[in-house]
Amino acid sequence: MNGNVITVLSTKGGVGKSTLARFIAIVANEQGKRVCIIDTCQNSSIATGFLKDRDSFQHSAYDWLIGEAKPSEVIQQYENTNIYYIPSDERIDDYEDWVSRKVTKPKQLEVLKTKIEPLKQIFDLIIVDTHPSENSDIVNYSIAASDYCVIPVEIDLDAKLAAKRCIEIIEDYQSAGYKIDYGLVWNKVEVTKGKAKIQLKNMKDELVKYGIMESKFVGEIRYSTTVSTSKNEGIMLNAIDNKYTMNVMNDIRKVSNTIFDKIVEGVHNEQAVTY
Ligand SMILES: Nc1ncnc2c1ncn2[C@@H]1O[C@H](COP(=O)(O)OP(=O)(O)O)[C@@H](O)[C@H]1O
Ligand SMILES: [Mg+2]
Repeated sequence: MNGNVITVLSTKGGVGKSTLARFIAIVANEQGKRVCIIDTCQNSSIATGFLKDRDSFQHSAYDWLIGEAKPSEVIQQYENTNIYYIPSDERIDDYEDWVSRKVTKPKQLEVLKTKIEPLKQIFDLIIVDTHPSENSDIVNYSIAASDYCVIPVEIDLDAKLAAKRCIEIIEDYQSAGYKIDYGLVWNKVEVTKGKAKIQLKNMKDELVKYGIMESKFVGEIRYSTTVSTSKNEGIMLNAIDNKYTMNVMNDIRKVSNTIFDKIVEGVHNEQAVTY
């Protein structure tokens, strides 16, 4: 990978966007990749996920986006790793307004892409964590900047509808000529419950009937309390030597590797078309 951009999105909250963004970065770091997460959600979960008080930063994504801070002033390193992140705060909600006032219409959709471009020289992978709102322009700026979109889905009706909606939006970008691929990640899967397995199968069948290719299902991550409490226990779940943690970390590694492979495959296909 070489400066590839992933957006994690869902129009539903609580499905695991920020968790997945953080864990994909952890897996990338395990593989020696240099990764930067850009937080575009006012909750600022990426910073808290890396055990930092969201109010402890002098600058946030907003300052960088509006050109008031250099990348070096906003990019934070997580301990002594290859994981970096740009924290967010509630001012990010003013960004769309800033763009509508300061950027000409034809350039608006590409504002984030333009900001990310120089970061591609520094990072193997850039992950954008988004806010769960369908009408949010910032989610659109993020999709427009991406090679790949990751859509976490829970086994529940709202999350399924949200996934369908996200796919519709991404397909509109594809139709408009954007080279973006996407994948669905089933999250919080209760692997020990037979009923949950049946529900998962039914949901998959329904989405396939709806026209989504099975190859878009890039994997499953089990429900694990070690994930939900990981913020309290220290972030590097991969370092915790317990069976449950290892199981869920392996799910996340599998999903991440599938996504990394799809991105590399996508880049090759694009080159094959270009030359
Ligand atoms: N696989 C999982 N198992 C257990 N809890 C999870 C899992 N994935 C996410 N969670 C928990 O679900 C909650 C919502 O996740 P989060 O990543 O903040 O969602 P979003 O960013 O989509 O709003 C968090 O408390 C998180 O720890
Ligand atoms: Mg979030």
